[in-house]
Amino acid sequence: MAPRPSIDLLHEIAPDVERLFNRHLESARGWYPHEIIDWGQGESFADRPWSETDYDLPAGVRSAIYVNLLTEDNLPYYTNTLLSHSPEGHPLREWNRQWTMEENRHAMVMRDWVHISRCIDPTLLEDGRRVQMKRGEVPQPATLAELVSYVAFQERATQIAHRNTAARLPKEDKMGRLVLGTVAGDETKHFMFYRDLALAAFAIDPSAMMVAAAQQVRAFAMPGTGIPGFTRHAVRIARENIYGLGQFLNDVLEPVLGVWDLGHLEKLTSEAERAREDLMGFIDKIGESVSRLTSRGPGLATA
Ligand SMILES: [Fe+2]
Ligand SMILES: [Fe+2]
Repeated sequence: MAPRPSIDLLHEIAPDVERLFNRHLESARGWYPHEIIDWGQGESFADRPWSETDYDLPAGVRSAIYVNLLTEDNLPYYTNTLLSHSPEGHPLREWNRQWTMEENRHAMVMRDWVHISRCIDPTLLEDGRRVQMKRGEVPQPATLAELVSYVAFQERATQIAHRNTAARLPKEDKMGRLVLGTVAGDETKHFMFYRDLALAAFAIDPSAMMVAAAQQVRAFAMPGTGIPGFTRHAVRIARENIYGLGQFLNDVLEPVLGVWDLGHLEKLTSEAERAREDLMGFIDKIGESVSRLTSRGPGLATA
């Protein structure tokens, strides 16, 4: 089938953005960081400097908190990328502002808990923040189709990473579990917005979305590549079974691609048909790698 370059996805998707934005607003649960944070548990670092023995945690869990928090810190650059695809007057613009307002609380509430609980080194955290934010490194999807695909995967991956980190905290740290669980709850709602926006985009321009989604799956990396020591931390996080290739396949790709129902897309261009076949082959290869790695030990690969 010949390509249909005339499809203006940005224009045609506007009603779906409005529909999903309204659904999001109806489901949004207000929460207040000050109600989650117990300030009375905090101690001055001047009186008692940080020590690794303040909070006993496996290295992979510490790495997950460090990487997840710094990723949330990098919000200005993510907002910038999203705004570059949403012109003034388009409902996506308004959605991006809502999204930014919600995301902005994540780093705040996480840092409050981190400083009070002393779960990671505050100096290391601040040094990492400085380096990462001066780099300003975030993925730059080239088109709206690529952006929508990428953010759907990324929000889901972030949700899984926060959720699994919360589950690795000691039971006594109720504040930490509540903080990460609440943040994961926000990511779930963001994920549902983008997953269903992408689904709507597939109905409008299946070929462009198929090519874009396949490209984004192949290129996908967890956000945070500008964080000092990112690869080392990513390996530890995977070893701790918080987020790695297995989670990417089972908790991100399968549920997202299942909803998009790629196998049943019709009237694809030849380029899009090829992209679908390549993607299925790529997913099979990931599955083989995951089986190989799980036979050696859990979560040894990163995604
Ligand atoms: Fe977030
Ligand atoms: Fe998010």
